[in-house]
Amino acid sequence: MEMILLLFFLLFLHREANAQMPGFVSIDCGGTDKFRDDLGLDWIPDNQVIYGVKANLSVTNENRKQYTTLRYFPVDSRKYCYTLNVKPRTRYLVRASFLYGNFDNSNVYPKFDISLGATHWSTIVISDADTVEIRELIVLASSPTISVCLSNATTGVPFISTLELRQFNGSVYYTDFETRFYLSLAARINFGSESEDPVRYPDDPFDRIWESDSLKKANYLVDVAAGTEKVSTKMPIDVNRDERPPEKVMQTAVVGRNGTLTYRLNLDGFPGFGWAFSYFAEIEDLGPNETRKFKLQVPGMPEYVKASVNIQENAQGRYRLYEPGFPNITLPFVLSFAFMKTTDSSMGPLLNAMEINKYLQINYGSQDATLISSLTSLYPEADWAQEGGDPCLPVPSSWVQCNSDPQPMIVSIILSGKNLTGNIPSELTKLSGLVELWLDGNSLTGPIPDFNGCPNLKKIHLENNRLTGAVPSSLVDLQNLNELYLQNNSLSGALPQGLLKKNLILNYSGNMDLHYAKSGTKHIKVLIGSVVGASVLIMAAIVYLLIMCRRKNKDLKKDDATKPLPSQKLISFFSNAAVESTHCFTLLEIEEWTTKFEKRIGSGGYGVVYYGKMKDGKEIAVKVLTNNSYQGKREFSNEVSMLSRIHHRNLVAFLGYCQEEGKNILVYEFMHNGTLKEHLYGPLIQERTISWIKRLEVAEDAAKGIEYLHTGCIPAIIHRDLKSSNILLDKHMRAKVSDFGLSKLAVEGSTYVSSVVRGTVGYLDPEYYISQQLTKKSDVYSFGVILLELISGREAISNESFGANCRNVVQWAKAHIESGDIQGIIDPSLHNGFDIQSVWKVAEKAMMCVQPYGSLRPSMSEVLKEIQEAISIERGRELAGEGNSATISSSEQSLNHTGSQDFCACEPFLPLDDPIAVPTAR
Ligand SMILES: *[C@@H]1O[C@H](CO)[C@@H](O)[C@H](O)[C@H]1NC(C)=O
Ligand SMILES: *[C@@H]1O[C@H](CO)[C@@H](O)[C@H](O)[C@H]1NC(C)=O
Ligand SMILES: *[C@@H]1O[C@H](CO)[C@@H](O)[C@H](O)[C@H]1NC(C)=O
Ligand SMILES: *[C@@H]1O[C@H](CO)[C@@H](O)[C@H](O)[C@H]1NC(C)=O
Ligand SMILES: *[C@@H]1O[C@H](CO)[C@@H](O)[C@H](O)[C@H]1NC(C)=O
Ligand SMILES: *[C@@H]1O[C@H](CO)[C@@H](O)[C@H](O)[C@H]1NC(C)=O
Ligand SMILES: *[C@@H]1O[C@H](CO)[C@@H](O)[C@H](O)[C@H]1NC(C)=O
Repeated sequence: MEMILLLFFLLFLHREANAQMPGFVSIDCGGTDKFRDDLGLDWIPDNQVIYGVKANLSVTNENRKQYTTLRYFPVDSRKYCYTLNVKPRTRYLVRASFLYGNFDNSNVYPKFDISLGATHWSTIVISDADTVEIRELIVLASSPTISVCLSNATTGVPFISTLELRQFNGSVYYTDFETRFYLSLAARINFGSESEDPVRYPDDPFDRIWESDSLKKANYLVDVAAGTEKVSTKMPIDVNRDERPPEKVMQTAVVGRNGTLTYRLNLDGFPGFGWAFSYFAEIEDLGPNETRKFKLQVPGMPEYVKASVNIQENAQGRYRLYEPGFPNITLPFVLSFAFMKTTDSSMGPLLNAMEINKYLQINYGSQDATLISSLTSLYPEADWAQEGGDPCLPVPSSWVQCNSDPQPMIVSIILSGKNLTGNIPSELTKLSGLVELWLDGNSLTGPIPDFNGCPNLKKIHLENNRLTGAVPSSLVDLQNLNELYLQNNSLSGALPQGLLKKNLILNYSGNMDLHYAKSGTKHIKVLIGSVVGASVLIMAAIVYLLIMCRRKNKDLKKDDATKPLPSQKLISFFSNAAVESTHCFTLLEIEEWTTKFEKRIGSGGYGVVYYGKMKDGKEIAVKVLTNNSYQGKREFSNEVSMLSRIHHRNLVAFLGYCQEEGKNILVYEFMHNGTLKEHLYGPLIQERTISWIKRLEVAEDAAKGIEYLHTGCIPAIIHRDLKSSNILLDKHMRAKVSDFGLSKLAVEGSTYVSSVVRGTVGYLDPEYYISQQLTKKSDVYSFGVILLELISGREAISNESFGANCRNVVQWAKAHIESGDIQGIIDPSLHNGFDIQSVWKVAEKAMMCVQPYGSLRPSMSEVLKEIQEAISIERGRELAGEGNSATISSSEQSLNHTGSQDFCACEPFLPLDDPIAVPTAR
């Protein structure tokens, strides 16, 4: 006996000294130091996490140290992950907890999603600043790491307080479904508990939390039957195997003295299929002729009434565990259940504990996850490589794009300018769904690998690296390849013949030793016999096009002016893609159409615009770029290539160009009603004022055009110079956005940094001005200014309009709107031709658009939606007969327009042999 006691004591000491179980990880998110808590659990801070911000909680009811800190993350569309090391093929309990504590002093209760790897785990909804929200999963680890990610913040700021990992030993939680489903905890209850405190570590060696049935929570164990009594014992309980409920839990129970036990509780995550077990041990002394027999009843589910329970018999003795349950049962969200004694039983039912988990279907995520984790392990220091989680789910990592398959594949890798060194990682050549690969602007060395593992590749950007070796002929086999950028590397040898025959944009300039194989087709020889640099190529292109123009001019005489260019093949060679499928006019033609530039209709920062009329009567606007305009030539080729790709009903149609005698000329459709600016406060204003509904329609049209640039084109296009003089009105007063001279191709996912900030004073996004980081949100800012112009009829910048100390419409409108004075900013010439609700709607959205930080501004799609809502308010008003006849007719007209579909085609490349579609004005 003494020996046993001593042994027990030694074991106990040993446990104290050696702390907790192996396989325990307790992360104190936002913490600074390691510490051991009162339970003997060792907590570590999450210092290795590079994202997010640590915060301290000042006042909460919680004084456990791990709840005095948290880590919160930006409110954006990314995911933020913790990655934990685990032993594969081992079961773990993963627990995350969240105590808001108003850490951000905003009293906005956060709502966001949490996922385990690619599997959506739960939506965390904080409804009380002082209550710890807990989520628990039981998972069978399938790889050496698991990640827990926060994403999709819908309100407030996403955050996390603790993250715990508890390794299981045996197989209580084994299920037939465990490779397809996790178990998500809904209830784990210790019945008959004397206090409200849960039982957990060290009583439960796996640190499960057995919640007390005395705990007062909403919809937790209510409708308790009369005659329910708590009982307990000090006798040891034989729980025989390790993951059964701990002895302390089994030593207490409830008994239904009057024959029944009833309970009702809400099951988080249900309805659904679940795993539900009850735990019984006979802890009362029954007389020789006393029996305890009872049955389960679940209202509405007669099928769940199993054979009656007789604990002593089932467990083969007293103080022994009996654990009947359902490994797969459908359960409702509100669960009511009862245990009723059978008629031949002398004692009422008894219940010690129960546990209910929901089956949560595992999403194994992207097929490319393994390749990506091996890729990121090559760059342990890089931020982008530490994002963790599945590359595609629940949202893609910041540097990838995925398709929307159930098991998504990566379609784009965007690692431009990420300081990558070494060879191009071979993982990238195995991403079988890859369509775009952007590795430009790194320091990659070595050869270009074989990309035949990525048969769908369309765009390969390897420019501005230090790649060496030959351009592999395997690139020729990529059927869909249409963009190959290799410039400014140290590639050598001959370009593979086959590449030159493909319809593809190929730029290989700036590679000193790379040359073009001499045995090409005739065209190629003529043109690129001694090619080295892009400039030479462009020169050649221009010479060639001029020749073609001249020749065309001859055939043109009785022909349609917009005849497509011949020889697409040839064009595909030119780096810079300056001239793909664009119409080239001669200076002669243009002089004829404009009667030698007779009628000047406008001028802008980049040149003068003249009126013209083509042979077929089509009216045109001819923009002659100022020769010495800033970077004129570059802007020109930029604009030409861009314009030829953009077709939308709300964008001014581009018809062609001319580059002759040092003149750079662009030809657009003619817009009869001039610029929006003229209608708001130009000379036209004396004649008539445009009504509020008309202004809304103009805003809607322009917003659609800009939205198309932002979302309809890949990569997205940022306008950069939106203003009321760049919104043009056609015959029917429908608006189109013009002037893409400043637009730049924006690489999705990365922000464009320009060397010079350009735009127009009064419309210029202050954030862009300061940071020089151009994003779509810079256009949103400018558009917000336009909305304010539409409301107020005042110019964006004025020395007189806004009173002392205020020169711009943003400040002025903001002061009025913030003080609730909307009337003060409404254009007086609108009289009362508006519904104040619709003006409010637009004004509020405009204020959102001109927020100082881009991240706070809405997207164009959101702005568009608001404008459309304002329009329906106005139409409702008109139908109610309040509008005057003029506005009714304008809305009828616009109804015709909205009936037609947007022509939304961004076609960067036209099929080689097909006739070229002519982008006509619509
Ligand atoms: C949180 O509190 C700790 C200790 O009091 C302090 O060192 C740390 O700077 C605080 N962190 C923040 C974000 O305020
Ligand atoms: C984000 O959360 C909202 C509301 O909780 C939900 O409607 C939406 O589907 C979620 N989005 C994603 C991508 O999960
Ligand atoms: C238990 O049942 C008896 C008789 O059926 C009844 O008199 C008594 O009030 C019940 N006790 C409670 C607490 O309801
Ligand atoms: C885990 O399992 C091993 C072997 O079955 C056993 O010796 C050990 O005691 C178990 N640990 C716990 C905490 O139950
Ligand atoms: C549970 O049973 C249902 C119906 O019998 C079945 O469809 C389902 O796959 C089973 N397993 C899980 C984990 O839901
Ligand atoms: C148990 O049985 C004995 C004899 O059979 C009887 O006298 C006694 O009343 C019974 N006790 C109970 C509680 O039924
Ligand atoms: C690029 O990498 C080198 C070496 O790995 C490092 O010294 C340098 O700071 C990095 N530069 C940037 C901008 O990350």
